[in-house]
Amino acid sequence: MKLQLEILLATALAIATVSVVIAQVPPEKQFRVLNEPSYAPYITEYDAGYRFLSSENQSFFTLPFQLMFYNTTPSAYVLALRVGSRRDLDYTRWIWDANRNNPVGDNSTLSLGRDGNLVLAELDGQIKWQTNTANKGVTGFKILPNGNMVLHDKNDKFIWQSFDYPTDTLLVGQSLKLNGVNKLVSRTSDVDGSDGPYSMVLGNKGLTMYVNKTGQPLAYGGWPSEDYRGTVTFTVRREFDNLTEPSAYELLLEPAPQQTTTNPGNNRRLLQSRPLGILSKVNYNCTISYLRLGSDGSLKAFSYFPAATYLEWEETFAFFSRNFVRPCGLPSFCGEFGYCSRGMCVGCPTPKGLFAWSEKCSAPKTTEFCGGKNKGKTVKYYKIVGVEHFNGPYVNDGQGPVSVNECKAKCDRDCKCLGYFYKEKDKKCLVAPLLGTLIKDANTSSIGYIKY
Ligand SMILES: *[C@@H]1O[C@H](CO)[C@@H](O)[C@H](O)[C@H]1NC(C)=O
Ligand SMILES: *[C@@H]1O[C@H](CO)[C@@H](O)[C@H](O)[C@H]1NC(C)=O
Ligand SMILES: *[C@@H]1O[C@H](CO)[C@@H](O)[C@H](O)[C@H]1NC(C)=O
Ligand SMILES: *[C@@H]1O[C@H](CO)[C@@H](O)[C@H](O)[C@H]1NC(C)=O
Ligand SMILES: *[C@@H]1O[C@H](CO)[C@@H](O)[C@H](O)[C@H]1NC(C)=O
Ligand SMILES: *[C@@H]1O[C@H](CO)[C@@H](O)[C@H](O)[C@H]1NC(C)=O
Repeated sequence: MKLQLEILLATALAIATVSVVIAQVPPEKQFRVLNEPSYAPYITEYDAGYRFLSSENQSFFTLPFQLMFYNTTPSAYVLALRVGSRRDLDYTRWIWDANRNNPVGDNSTLSLGRDGNLVLAELDGQIKWQTNTANKGVTGFKILPNGNMVLHDKNDKFIWQSFDYPTDTLLVGQSLKLNGVNKLVSRTSDVDGSDGPYSMVLGNKGLTMYVNKTGQPLAYGGWPSEDYRGTVTFTVRREFDNLTEPSAYELLLEPAPQQTTTNPGNNRRLLQSRPLGILSKVNYNCTISYLRLGSDGSLKAFSYFPAATYLEWEETFAFFSRNFVRPCGLPSFCGEFGYCSRGMCVGCPTPKGLFAWSEKCSAPKTTEFCGGKNKGKTVKYYKIVGVEHFNGPYVNDGQGPVSVNECKAKCDRDCKCLGYFYKEKDKKCLVAPLLGTLIKDANTSSIGYIKY
Protein backbone atom coordinates (compact mmCIF):
# COMPACT_ATOMS: atom_id res chain seq x y z
CA MET A 1 0.00 0.00 0.00
CA LYS A 2 2.78 2.40 1.04
CA LEU A 3 4.84 1.43 -2.00
CA GLN A 4 1.87 2.00 -4.26
CA LEU A 5 1.40 5.45 -2.80
CA GLU A 6 5.06 6.25 -3.38
CA ILE A 7 4.85 5.15 -6.98
CA LEU A 8 1.76 7.25 -7.39
CA LEU A 9 3.51 10.28 -5.92
CA ALA A 10 6.56 9.80 -8.08
CA THR A 11 4.39 9.54 -11.17
CA ALA A 12 2.50 12.68 -10.21
CA LEU A 13 5.78 14.51 -9.72
CA ALA A 14 7.06 13.35 -13.10
CA ILE A 15 3.89 14.57 -14.80
CA ALA A 16 4.17 17.93 -13.03
CA THR A 17 7.79 18.31 -14.15
CA VAL A 18 6.92 17.47 -17.74
CA SER A 19 4.07 19.98 -17.85
CA VAL A 20 6.45 22.77 -16.74
CA VAL A 21 8.46 22.33 -19.93
CA ILE A 22 6.36 24.54 -22.17
CA ALA A 23 7.15 25.89 -25.60
CA GLN A 24 9.35 28.95 -25.76
CA VAL A 25 10.03 31.67 -28.28
CA PRO A 26 12.84 30.39 -30.55
CA PRO A 27 15.90 32.72 -30.84
CA GLU A 28 15.07 33.83 -34.40
CA LYS A 29 11.65 35.02 -33.25
CA GLN A 30 12.96 37.00 -30.30
CA PHE A 31 13.60 40.72 -30.56
CA ARG A 32 14.64 43.76 -28.61
CA VAL A 33 14.02 47.08 -30.32
CA LEU A 34 15.04 50.52 -29.21
CA ASN A 35 12.87 53.62 -29.22
CA GLU A 36 15.27 55.89 -31.10
CA PRO A 37 14.90 58.62 -33.72
CA SER A 38 14.11 57.55 -37.27
CA TYR A 39 13.39 59.32 -40.53
CA ALA A 40 9.71 60.29 -40.23
CA PRO A 41 8.76 62.89 -42.80
CA TYR A 42 4.98 62.52 -43.10
CA ILE A 43 2.08 64.07 -41.24
CA THR A 44 0.08 61.70 -39.05
CA GLU A 45 -3.02 62.01 -36.93
CA TYR A 46 -2.74 64.39 -33.91
CA ASP A 47 0.24 65.98 -35.68
CA ALA A 48 2.28 63.38 -33.90
CA GLY A 49 5.96 62.63 -34.31
CA TYR A 50 6.76 58.97 -34.86
CA ARG A 51 9.54 56.42 -34.80
CA PHE A 52 9.77 53.11 -36.64
CA LEU A 53 10.69 49.87 -34.93
CA SER A 54 13.40 47.89 -36.62
CA SER A 55 14.61 44.40 -35.89
CA GLU A 56 16.53 41.87 -37.95
CA ASN A 57 14.19 39.16 -36.65
CA GLN A 58 10.73 40.67 -36.78
CA SER A 59 8.60 42.75 -39.10
CA PHE A 60 6.26 45.25 -37.51
CA PHE A 61 4.37 46.01 -40.70
CA THR A 62 1.44 44.19 -42.30
CA LEU A 63 -0.09 46.45 -44.92
CA PRO A 64 -1.76 48.80 -44.02
CA PHE A 65 -0.99 48.36 -40.28
CA GLN A 66 2.28 49.16 -38.59
CA LEU A 67 3.47 49.08 -34.98
CA MET A 68 5.59 52.06 -33.94
CA PHE A 69 6.09 54.77 -31.38
CA TYR A 70 4.44 58.17 -31.58
CA ASN A 71 4.52 61.26 -29.44
CA THR A 72 2.49 64.46 -29.21
CA THR A 73 4.62 65.99 -26.46
CA PRO A 74 8.43 65.81 -26.28
CA SER A 75 9.92 62.57 -24.93
CA ALA A 76 6.59 60.94 -24.05
CA TYR A 77 6.16 58.00 -26.43
CA VAL A 78 3.23 55.68 -26.91
CA LEU A 79 3.60 52.27 -28.56
CA ALA A 80 0.80 52.18 -31.10
CA LEU A 81 -0.65 50.69 -34.26
CA ARG A 82 -0.94 53.02 -37.22
CA VAL A 83 -3.06 52.43 -40.28
CA GLY A 84 -2.50 53.79 -43.76
CA SER A 85 0.37 53.50 -46.18
CA ARG A 86 3.25 55.76 -46.99
CA ARG A 87 1.88 56.47 -50.43
CA ASP A 88 -1.37 57.89 -49.03
CA LEU A 89 -1.96 61.59 -49.49
CA ASP A 90 -4.23 61.51 -46.46
CA TYR A 91 -2.69 61.30 -43.03
CA THR A 92 -2.29 57.93 -41.32
CA ARG A 93 -4.34 57.15 -38.18
CA TRP A 94 -3.49 55.79 -34.73
CA ILE A 95 -5.98 53.05 -33.99
CA TRP A 96 -4.55 51.26 -30.95
CA ASP A 97 -2.35 52.38 -28.06
CA ALA A 98 -0.49 50.08 -25.68
CA ASN A 99 0.52 52.56 -22.98
CA ARG A 100 -1.43 55.76 -23.46
CA ASN A 101 -1.66 56.50 -19.73
CA ASN A 102 1.95 55.57 -19.20
CA PRO A 103 4.23 56.94 -21.94
CA VAL A 104 7.91 55.98 -22.20
CA GLY A 105 11.04 58.07 -22.86
CA ASP A 106 13.94 57.91 -25.31
CA ASN A 107 15.85 54.66 -25.61
CA SER A 108 13.09 52.66 -23.99
CA THR A 109 12.85 49.11 -25.37
CA LEU A 110 10.21 46.76 -26.69
CA SER A 111 11.30 43.18 -26.27
CA LEU A 112 10.04 39.69 -26.73
CA GLY A 113 12.30 37.25 -24.92
CA ARG A 114 12.39 33.49 -24.65
CA ASP A 115 9.60 33.40 -22.05
CA GLY A 116 7.06 34.97 -24.44
CA ASN A 117 6.28 38.13 -22.47
CA LEU A 118 6.11 41.26 -24.65
CA VAL A 119 7.57 44.05 -22.53
CA LEU A 120 7.87 47.80 -22.94
CA ALA A 121 10.46 49.13 -20.52
CA GLU A 122 12.31 52.34 -19.81
CA LEU A 123 16.04 52.66 -20.33
CA ASP A 124 16.57 51.83 -16.64
CA GLY A 125 14.51 48.64 -16.91
CA GLN A 126 11.33 49.98 -15.32
CA ILE A 127 8.40 48.17 -16.97
CA LYS A 128 5.74 50.53 -18.36
CA TRP A 129 3.55 48.02 -20.18
CA GLN A 130 3.53 44.25 -20.77
CA THR A 131 1.26 41.51 -22.04
CA ASN A 132 1.76 39.26 -18.97
CA THR A 133 2.27 36.22 -21.17
CA ALA A 134 5.48 34.83 -19.66
CA ASN A 135 5.61 31.01 -19.78
CA LYS A 136 2.21 30.63 -21.39
CA GLY A 137 3.46 28.85 -24.50
CA VAL A 138 4.03 31.88 -26.75
CA THR A 139 6.22 31.03 -29.73
CA GLY A 140 5.88 34.14 -31.85
CA PHE A 141 4.46 37.59 -32.61
CA LYS A 142 2.65 38.93 -35.64
CA ILE A 143 0.37 41.64 -36.94
CA LEU A 144 -2.56 40.24 -38.89
CA PRO A 145 -3.99 41.90 -42.04
CA ASN A 146 -7.05 43.03 -40.04
CA GLY A 147 -4.92 45.04 -37.60
CA ASN A 148 -4.98 42.51 -34.76
CA MET A 149 -1.56 42.20 -33.14
CA VAL A 150 -1.11 38.76 -31.61
CA LEU A 151 1.18 36.55 -29.58
CA HIS A 152 0.51 32.98 -30.67
CA ASP A 153 1.52 29.50 -29.58
CA LYS A 154 2.93 26.67 -31.70
CA ASN A 155 -0.58 25.77 -32.92
CA ASP A 156 -1.20 29.38 -33.94
CA LYS A 157 -3.68 29.85 -31.12
CA PHE A 158 -3.72 33.40 -29.79
CA ILE A 159 -2.39 33.66 -26.25
CA TRP A 160 -2.74 37.45 -26.33
CA GLN A 161 -4.31 39.80 -28.88
CA SER A 162 -4.60 43.57 -29.12
CA PHE A 163 -8.24 43.10 -30.22
CA ASP A 164 -9.01 42.17 -26.58
CA TYR A 165 -7.77 45.58 -25.38
CA PRO A 166 -9.55 48.31 -27.33
CA THR A 167 -8.72 51.90 -26.38
CA ASP A 168 -10.92 54.52 -28.09
CA THR A 169 -11.25 52.62 -31.38
CA LEU A 170 -12.77 49.43 -32.75
CA LEU A 171 -11.45 47.88 -35.96
CA VAL A 172 -13.63 45.67 -38.13
CA GLY A 173 -13.99 42.36 -36.31
CA GLN A 174 -13.17 43.84 -32.91
CA SER A 175 -15.65 43.55 -30.03
CA LEU A 176 -16.66 44.95 -26.69
CA LYS A 177 -17.41 42.13 -24.25
CA LEU A 178 -19.24 41.92 -20.97
CA ASN A 179 -16.67 39.43 -19.71
CA GLY A 180 -13.67 41.40 -20.97
CA VAL A 181 -12.89 44.97 -21.93
CA ASN A 182 -16.42 46.34 -22.16
CA LYS A 183 -15.77 49.95 -23.15
CA LEU A 184 -14.09 52.49 -25.34
CA VAL A 185 -12.61 55.47 -23.51
CA SER A 186 -11.86 58.70 -25.35
CA ARG A 187 -8.53 60.52 -25.36
CA THR A 188 -8.42 63.71 -23.32
CA SER A 189 -7.51 65.76 -26.43
CA ASP A 190 -5.46 65.51 -29.60
CA VAL A 191 -2.34 66.40 -27.65
CA ASP A 192 -3.14 64.49 -24.46
CA GLY A 193 -3.68 60.81 -25.22
CA SER A 194 -4.52 59.76 -21.66
CA ASP A 195 -8.03 58.58 -20.69
CA GLY A 196 -10.61 61.33 -21.27
CA PRO A 197 -14.11 61.91 -19.90
CA TYR A 198 -16.13 60.09 -22.58
CA SER A 199 -16.80 56.38 -22.68
CA MET A 200 -18.99 53.95 -24.57
CA VAL A 201 -19.82 51.06 -22.28
CA LEU A 202 -21.41 47.68 -22.96
CA GLY A 203 -23.67 46.99 -19.99
CA ASN A 204 -26.78 45.00 -19.22
CA LYS A 205 -28.93 47.43 -21.22
CA GLY A 206 -26.83 47.62 -24.36
CA LEU A 207 -24.25 50.14 -25.50
CA THR A 208 -24.33 53.49 -23.73
CA MET A 209 -22.21 56.60 -24.22
CA TYR A 210 -21.37 58.50 -21.04
CA VAL A 211 -19.74 61.80 -20.21
CA ASN A 212 -18.05 61.77 -16.82
CA LYS A 213 -16.79 65.27 -15.99
CA THR A 214 -18.36 65.63 -12.59
CA GLY A 215 -17.77 62.22 -11.02
CA GLN A 216 -21.28 61.23 -12.05
CA PRO A 217 -21.47 59.57 -15.49
CA LEU A 218 -24.33 60.96 -17.63
CA ALA A 219 -25.65 59.07 -20.63
CA TYR A 220 -25.82 60.99 -23.93
CA GLY A 221 -26.13 58.33 -26.62
CA GLY A 222 -25.97 54.69 -27.56
CA TRP A 223 -27.97 51.65 -28.62
CA PRO A 224 -30.28 50.20 -25.97
CA SER A 225 -30.73 46.44 -26.22
CA GLU A 226 -31.13 43.57 -23.86
CA ASP A 227 -30.54 41.01 -26.54
CA TYR A 228 -26.90 41.03 -27.55
CA ARG A 229 -25.60 37.98 -25.62
CA GLY A 230 -22.67 39.69 -23.97
CA THR A 231 -20.77 40.84 -27.06
CA VAL A 232 -21.03 43.59 -29.61
CA THR A 233 -18.77 43.52 -32.67
CA PHE A 234 -18.02 46.22 -35.22
CA THR A 235 -18.36 44.46 -38.58
CA VAL A 236 -18.70 44.88 -42.31
CA ARG A 237 -21.19 42.82 -44.27
CA ARG A 238 -21.48 42.61 -48.00
CA GLU A 239 -25.02 43.49 -48.85
CA PHE A 240 -25.66 40.39 -50.96
CA ASP A 241 -23.79 37.17 -50.37
CA ASN A 242 -23.81 36.30 -54.05
CA LEU A 243 -21.24 37.82 -56.35
CA THR A 244 -23.39 40.44 -58.07
CA GLU A 245 -21.33 43.53 -58.77
CA PRO A 246 -21.37 46.22 -57.74
CA SER A 247 -22.71 45.54 -54.29
CA ALA A 248 -22.73 47.74 -51.25
CA TYR A 249 -21.13 47.02 -47.90
CA GLU A 250 -22.82 47.72 -44.58
CA LEU A 251 -21.04 48.85 -41.43
CA LEU A 252 -22.75 47.27 -38.44
CA LEU A 253 -22.69 46.79 -34.73
CA GLU A 254 -23.56 43.17 -34.27
CA PRO A 255 -24.45 41.09 -31.22
CA ALA A 256 -22.92 37.65 -30.68
CA PRO A 257 -24.46 35.12 -33.07
CA GLN A 258 -27.53 33.37 -31.80
CA GLN A 259 -27.22 29.64 -31.41
CA THR A 260 -30.44 27.98 -32.40
CA THR A 261 -31.37 24.36 -32.66
CA THR A 262 -33.27 24.12 -35.92
CA ASN A 263 -33.63 20.35 -36.05
CA PRO A 264 -34.12 17.91 -33.28
CA GLY A 265 -30.86 16.15 -32.60
CA ASN A 266 -27.44 17.70 -32.82
CA ASN A 267 -27.96 19.88 -35.84
CA ARG A 268 -27.11 23.28 -34.40
CA ARG A 269 -27.11 26.13 -36.83
CA LEU A 270 -25.74 29.62 -36.40
CA LEU A 271 -28.34 32.14 -37.36
CA GLN A 272 -27.24 35.56 -38.43
CA SER A 273 -28.59 37.78 -35.70
CA ARG A 274 -30.24 41.12 -36.20
CA PRO A 275 -27.70 43.95 -35.92
CA LEU A 276 -27.76 46.18 -32.88
CA GLY A 277 -27.21 49.11 -35.19
CA ILE A 278 -26.74 49.63 -38.92
CA LEU A 279 -24.27 52.49 -39.12
CA SER A 280 -24.06 53.09 -42.86
CA LYS A 281 -23.74 51.72 -46.35
CA VAL A 282 -20.58 52.18 -48.35
CA ASN A 283 -20.19 51.51 -52.05
CA TYR A 284 -16.72 49.98 -51.89
CA ASN A 285 -15.06 47.20 -49.87
CA CYS A 286 -14.68 49.00 -46.54
CA THR A 287 -13.15 46.13 -44.59
CA ILE A 288 -10.46 48.53 -43.38
CA SER A 289 -12.66 50.80 -41.27
CA TYR A 290 -12.65 51.92 -37.69
CA LEU A 291 -15.18 53.22 -35.18
CA ARG A 292 -13.80 55.93 -32.90
CA LEU A 293 -15.03 57.58 -29.72
CA GLY A 294 -13.50 61.04 -30.19
CA SER A 295 -12.03 63.31 -27.53
CA ASP A 296 -15.09 65.55 -28.02
CA GLY A 297 -17.45 62.64 -27.28
CA SER A 298 -18.38 62.07 -30.93
CA LEU A 299 -18.71 58.56 -32.32
CA LYS A 300 -17.60 58.24 -35.94
CA ALA A 301 -16.59 55.56 -38.39
CA PHE A 302 -13.90 56.08 -41.01
CA SER A 303 -13.29 53.82 -43.98
CA TYR A 304 -10.15 53.37 -46.04
CA PHE A 305 -10.32 53.38 -49.82
CA PRO A 306 -6.79 53.12 -51.19
CA ALA A 307 -8.03 53.63 -54.76
CA ALA A 308 -9.24 57.14 -53.96
CA THR A 309 -7.51 59.78 -56.02
CA TYR A 310 -7.06 62.18 -53.16
CA LEU A 311 -8.19 61.46 -49.56
CA GLU A 312 -8.13 57.75 -48.73
CA TRP A 313 -10.10 58.07 -45.49
CA GLU A 314 -13.78 58.82 -45.65
CA GLU A 315 -16.04 59.60 -42.70
CA THR A 316 -18.70 56.93 -43.25
CA PHE A 317 -20.73 57.35 -40.07
CA ALA A 318 -21.34 59.95 -37.37
CA PHE A 319 -23.71 59.23 -34.50
CA PHE A 320 -24.46 62.94 -34.05
CA SER A 321 -25.39 63.99 -37.57
CA ARG A 322 -28.42 64.98 -39.58
CA ASN A 323 -29.14 61.42 -40.71
CA PHE A 324 -28.71 59.78 -37.31
CA VAL A 325 -29.15 61.42 -33.89
CA ARG A 326 -29.47 65.25 -34.03
CA PRO A 327 -26.07 67.04 -33.96
CA CYS A 328 -27.26 69.20 -31.01
CA GLY A 329 -27.36 66.01 -28.92
CA LEU A 330 -23.56 65.97 -28.65
CA PRO A 331 -22.89 67.56 -25.21
CA SER A 332 -19.73 69.30 -26.47
CA PHE A 333 -21.31 70.52 -29.73
CA CYS A 334 -21.44 74.14 -28.50
CA GLY A 335 -18.24 73.86 -26.48
CA GLU A 336 -18.69 74.33 -22.76
CA PHE A 337 -22.14 75.93 -23.02
CA GLY A 338 -24.62 76.97 -25.67
CA TYR A 339 -28.16 76.88 -26.99
CA CYS A 340 -28.40 74.66 -30.04
CA SER A 341 -31.05 74.54 -32.75
CA ARG A 342 -31.01 72.39 -35.90
CA GLY A 343 -27.28 71.76 -35.77
CA MET A 344 -26.28 75.32 -34.99
CA CYS A 345 -25.21 77.06 -31.79
CA VAL A 346 -27.67 79.93 -31.90
CA GLY A 347 -27.26 81.52 -28.49
CA CYS A 348 -25.37 81.85 -25.25
CA PRO A 349 -27.82 81.76 -22.33
CA THR A 350 -27.21 84.33 -19.58
CA PRO A 351 -29.33 85.74 -16.71
CA LYS A 352 -29.96 88.71 -19.03
CA GLY A 353 -31.26 86.58 -21.88
CA LEU A 354 -29.80 84.86 -24.91
CA PHE A 355 -26.65 86.47 -26.31
CA ALA A 356 -24.78 85.57 -29.48
CA TRP A 357 -22.90 82.30 -29.07
CA SER A 358 -19.12 82.15 -29.15
CA GLU A 359 -16.46 79.72 -27.91
CA LYS A 360 -16.30 81.86 -24.78
CA CYS A 361 -19.87 81.04 -23.75
CA SER A 362 -19.52 79.50 -20.30
CA ALA A 363 -21.78 77.68 -17.88
CA PRO A 364 -22.03 78.47 -14.16
CA LYS A 365 -19.36 76.67 -12.11
CA THR A 366 -20.11 74.42 -9.15
CA THR A 367 -17.43 76.33 -7.21
CA GLU A 368 -19.79 79.34 -7.25
CA PHE A 369 -22.22 77.33 -5.12
CA CYS A 370 -20.11 74.68 -3.36
CA GLY A 371 -16.98 76.64 -2.36
CA GLY A 372 -16.37 77.61 1.30
CA LYS A 373 -17.88 81.10 1.50
CA ASN A 374 -20.48 80.31 -1.14
CA LYS A 375 -21.78 77.29 0.71
CA GLY A 376 -25.45 77.68 1.47
CA LYS A 377 -25.75 81.00 -0.41
CA THR A 378 -29.19 81.74 -1.76
CA VAL A 379 -29.27 80.71 -5.39
CA LYS A 380 -31.28 82.25 -8.19
CA TYR A 381 -32.30 80.79 -11.52
CA TYR A 382 -32.98 82.19 -14.94
CA LYS A 383 -35.46 80.53 -17.21
CA ILE A 384 -35.13 79.26 -20.78
CA VAL A 385 -38.41 78.21 -22.38
CA GLY A 386 -38.34 75.32 -24.88
CA VAL A 387 -35.10 73.59 -24.02
CA GLU A 388 -33.95 70.04 -23.37
CA HIS A 389 -30.90 68.61 -21.59
CA PHE A 390 -28.68 66.11 -23.48
CA ASN A 391 -29.26 63.50 -20.76
CA GLY A 392 -33.09 63.82 -21.00
CA PRO A 393 -33.83 61.18 -23.66
CA TYR A 394 -31.71 58.59 -21.80
CA VAL A 395 -33.29 59.00 -18.36
CA ASN A 396 -36.91 59.30 -19.42
CA ASP A 397 -36.70 63.10 -18.93
CA GLY A 398 -35.81 62.68 -15.25
CA GLN A 399 -37.93 61.78 -12.27
CA GLY A 400 -41.55 62.41 -11.64
CA PRO A 401 -44.27 63.27 -11.47
CA VAL A 402 -43.14 65.99 -9.07
CA SER A 403 -44.10 69.64 -8.78
CA VAL A 404 -41.84 72.32 -10.21
CA ASN A 405 -41.21 73.55 -6.65
CA GLU A 406 -40.00 70.14 -5.53
CA CYS A 407 -37.75 70.02 -8.58
CA LYS A 408 -36.32 73.43 -7.71
CA ALA A 409 -35.86 72.44 -4.06
CA LYS A 410 -33.85 69.43 -5.16
CA CYS A 411 -31.49 71.64 -7.16
CA ASP A 412 -31.38 74.26 -4.35
CA ARG A 413 -30.17 71.67 -1.87
CA ASP A 414 -27.52 70.21 -4.17
CA CYS A 415 -24.62 72.63 -4.60
CA LYS A 416 -23.39 70.52 -7.55
CA CYS A 417 -26.67 71.07 -9.40
CA LEU A 418 -26.18 73.73 -12.08
CA GLY A 419 -29.77 73.83 -13.19
CA TYR A 420 -32.95 71.82 -13.56
CA PHE A 421 -35.17 70.94 -16.50
CA TYR A 422 -38.87 70.58 -16.01
CA LYS A 423 -41.45 69.14 -18.39
CA GLU A 424 -44.73 70.70 -17.36
CA LYS A 425 -46.93 68.28 -19.27
CA ASP A 426 -45.76 65.12 -17.53
CA LYS A 427 -44.18 66.83 -14.48
CA LYS A 428 -40.75 65.31 -15.04
CA CYS A 429 -37.74 66.77 -13.24
CA LEU A 430 -34.13 66.45 -14.37
CA VAL A 431 -31.42 67.91 -12.14
CA ALA A 432 -28.18 68.66 -14.04
CA PRO A 433 -24.63 68.63 -12.67
CA LEU A 434 -23.32 69.39 -16.19
CA LEU A 435 -24.93 71.66 -18.81
CA GLY A 436 -22.97 71.69 -22.08
CA THR A 437 -25.12 71.98 -25.17
CA LEU A 438 -28.78 72.79 -24.49
CA ILE A 439 -31.09 71.47 -27.18
CA LYS A 440 -33.88 73.67 -28.45
CA ASP A 441 -37.21 71.91 -28.00
CA ALA A 442 -40.19 73.12 -30.02
CA ASN A 443 -42.29 72.02 -27.06
CA THR A 444 -42.58 75.14 -24.92
CA SER A 445 -43.74 73.11 -21.95
CA SER A 446 -40.15 71.96 -21.48
CA ILE A 447 -38.32 74.58 -19.42
CA GLY A 448 -34.74 74.95 -18.26
CA TYR A 449 -33.80 76.84 -15.07
CA ILE A 450 -30.12 77.72 -14.86
CA LYS A 451 -28.49 78.62 -11.56
CA TYR A 452 -26.62 81.90 -11.02
C1 LIG B 1 17.67 37.19 -33.78
O1 LIG B 1 17.77 35.84 -34.18
C2 LIG B 1 19.03 35.24 -33.97
C3 LIG B 1 18.98 33.83 -34.50
O2 LIG B 1 18.58 33.81 -35.83
C4 LIG B 1 19.38 35.26 -32.52
O3 LIG B 1 20.67 34.73 -32.33
C5 LIG B 1 19.34 36.67 -31.98
O4 LIG B 1 19.55 36.68 -30.61
C6 LIG B 1 18.02 37.33 -32.30
N1 LIG B 1 18.06 38.75 -31.96
C7 LIG B 1 17.46 39.25 -30.86
C8 LIG B 1 17.62 40.72 -30.66
O5 LIG B 1 16.82 38.57 -30.10
C1 LIG C 1 19.89 57.22 -26.30
O1 LIG C 1 20.92 56.49 -26.92
C2 LIG C 1 21.71 57.23 -27.79
C3 LIG C 1 22.67 56.29 -28.53
O2 LIG C 1 23.17 55.32 -27.66
C4 LIG C 1 22.45 58.30 -26.99
O3 LIG C 1 23.21 59.11 -27.85
C5 LIG C 1 21.42 59.17 -26.27
O4 LIG C 1 22.08 60.09 -25.42
C6 LIG C 1 20.49 58.32 -25.43
N1 LIG C 1 19.42 59.15 -24.90
C7 LIG C 1 19.07 59.10 -23.62
C8 LIG C 1 17.95 60.01 -23.20
O5 LIG C 1 19.61 58.36 -22.83
C1 LIG D 1 -16.21 59.12 -13.07
O1 LIG D 1 -15.16 60.01 -12.69
C2 LIG D 1 -14.77 59.88 -11.35
C3 LIG D 1 -13.77 60.97 -11.04
O2 LIG D 1 -12.85 61.13 -12.07
C4 LIG D 1 -14.21 58.48 -11.11
O3 LIG D 1 -13.83 58.33 -9.77
C5 LIG D 1 -15.28 57.46 -11.46
O4 LIG D 1 -14.76 56.16 -11.35
C6 LIG D 1 -15.79 57.68 -12.87
N1 LIG D 1 -16.90 56.79 -13.10
C7 LIG D 1 -17.00 56.04 -14.17
C8 LIG D 1 -18.18 55.12 -14.24
O5 LIG D 1 -16.19 56.07 -15.08
C1 LIG E 1 -28.21 38.35 -55.43
O1 LIG E 1 -28.92 38.36 -54.20
C2 LIG E 1 -29.94 39.33 -54.15
C3 LIG E 1 -30.53 39.34 -52.76
O2 LIG E 1 -30.67 38.06 -52.24
C4 LIG E 1 -31.00 39.04 -55.21
O3 LIG E 1 -32.00 40.04 -55.16
C5 LIG E 1 -30.33 39.01 -56.58
O4 LIG E 1 -31.29 38.64 -57.54
C6 LIG E 1 -29.18 38.02 -56.57
N1 LIG E 1 -28.49 38.13 -57.84
C7 LIG E 1 -28.11 37.06 -58.52
C8 LIG E 1 -27.41 37.31 -59.80
O5 LIG E 1 -28.27 35.94 -58.09
C1 LIG F 1 -12.39 43.16 -48.93
O1 LIG F 1 -11.12 43.56 -48.44
C2 LIG F 1 -10.52 42.64 -47.55
C3 LIG F 1 -9.23 43.24 -47.00
O2 LIG F 1 -8.99 44.52 -47.37
C4 LIG F 1 -10.29 41.31 -48.24
O3 LIG F 1 -9.73 40.39 -47.34
C5 LIG F 1 -11.60 40.79 -48.79
O4 LIG F 1 -11.38 39.61 -49.52
C6 LIG F 1 -12.28 41.81 -49.67
N1 LIG F 1 -13.60 41.34 -50.02
C7 LIG F 1 -14.03 41.30 -51.26
C8 LIG F 1 -15.40 40.73 -51.47
O5 LIG F 1 -13.36 41.70 -52.19
C1 LIG G 1 -45.31 68.54 -25.87
O1 LIG G 1 -45.11 67.48 -24.89
C2 LIG G 1 -46.32 66.88 -24.45
C3 LIG G 1 -46.01 65.91 -23.32
O2 LIG G 1 -44.67 65.53 -23.29
C4 LIG G 1 -47.01 66.21 -25.63
O3 LIG G 1 -48.21 65.64 -25.20
C5 LIG G 1 -47.24 67.25 -26.72
O4 LIG G 1 -47.78 66.59 -27.85
C6 LIG G 1 -45.96 67.97 -27.11
N1 LIG G 1 -46.24 69.03 -28.06
C7 LIG G 1 -45.55 69.19 -29.18
C8 LIG G 1 -45.91 70.36 -30.05
O5 LIG G 1 -44.63 68.44 -29.50
